[in-house]
Amino acid sequence: MQRLVNKRVLLGVSGGIAAYKSAELVRRLRDAGAEVRVVMTQAAREFITPLTLQALSGHPVHGDLLDPAAEAAMGHIELARWADLVLIAPATADLMARLAQGRGDDLLTTLVLASDAPLAIAPAMNQAMWRDQATQANLDLLQGRGVRVFGPGAGEQACGDVGPGRMLDPSEIALLASDCFERGLLTGKHVLINAGPTREAIDPVRYISNHSSGKMGFALAEAAAEAGARVTLVAGPVNLTTPPRVTRVDVTSALEMQAACEAALPADLFIASAAVADYRPVACAPNKLKKEPHGNHGMTLELVPNPDILAGIASHALRPWCVGFAAETHDVLSYAADKLKRKNLDMIIANDVSAPGIGFNSDDNAVTLIDRSLQQQQLPMASKNQLARQIIGHIASRLGTVEATHHH
Ligand code: C5P
Repeated sequence: MQRLVNKRVLLGVSGGIAAYKSAELVRRLRDAGAEVRVVMTQAAREFITPLTLQALSGHPVHGDLLDPAAEAAMGHIELARWADLVLIAPATADLMARLAQGRGDDLLTTLVLASDAPLAIAPAMNQAMWRDQATQANLDLLQGRGVRVFGPGAGEQACGDVGPGRMLDPSEIALLASDCFERGLLTGKHVLINAGPTREAIDPVRYISNHSSGKMGFALAEAAAEAGARVTLVAGPVNLTTPPRVTRVDVTSALEMQAACEAALPADLFIASAAVADYRPVACAPNKLKKEPHGNHGMTLELVPNPDILAGIASHALRPWCVGFAAETHDVLSYAADKLKRKNLDMIIANDVSAPGIGFNSDDNAVTLIDRSLQQQQLPMASKNQLARQIIGHIASRLGTVEATHHH
């Protein structure tokens, strides 16, 4: 079921008595981590209300092809592109016939035509209708086109008949839906990433901060989500949009960032890419500080050290696999290796911020990965997005071997 994490399932519901089971199916899919949007045929609405499925899916239910309000919110082409899987449950005999013919006479069939996502159907109908030659011919056609068919099961039917045509149980359908997806490198893992600068308030209008853009951390969050992980991204003040399928928690100060990271545990992997301010003013003045008492004499600001968020989390008994960053201007590798030991990390990512065109605010970066055994892996200059995918790949392969050794 872990393969459903972060996956977008477009659930089509057609008009059969089994439509009442679709409510349970929405829950199962969401419990497994999928995002679900529901499309109902006109007939389905005679069996179960859109309101029920809207409440369970957390999104308005789509019904009409020509509904201007729905089209404005998410047009049908957009919805078709959004889906990672189109799942129709229940699929009636009529719906199978319309799919087989390639019709687009309502929203659901139009979406199926417009979507490149895999299509799966869970047929549900009376046993005689299921056995009918026309239905069987449609089934062959659909299977021949690569449509996955879940069930139907056999047994007692709503009409009193006994035989094939019962829709599978929602839990079975959810499991088969998850089998439609490949396992990602980080499927089933919870990844915690922090990113960006922190701001340490001096008074209500002033603060101490740094130039971190947060780009590397956001790129890592996106790459981890692409690899199938559930991702929590704790972000300082940055000007970046949240990558798809990532849960973002916004914070301002180092203390807030620490609290948010600790609250997001347990995690399998923690990547600390944030540029946490090392010091903060001993207290934030309640009112804007005035220049007058100091005049031309200068003023002294008393600072106290901030906690080391990464070292703190790396010292927990049930700690995630911990990755830190070391932005250095000279003796990059020896400082980085030193930091790895001091903070008890599993890996440190060293980057030379003195080199032109890489580091803090730029779109490119070049880094060296150093692990506990001080083995080095150089990743040459690339965009932060490309680099993030490579870094996630390297980390995932180490995480994998760690678990394999634990199991044996
Ligand atoms: O010691 P230095 O700040 O160079 O270490 C950098 C690494 O430690 C980064 O991964 C950074 O996110 C983390 N760090 C932290 N809390 C701090 C300072 C740094 O988590 N207060």
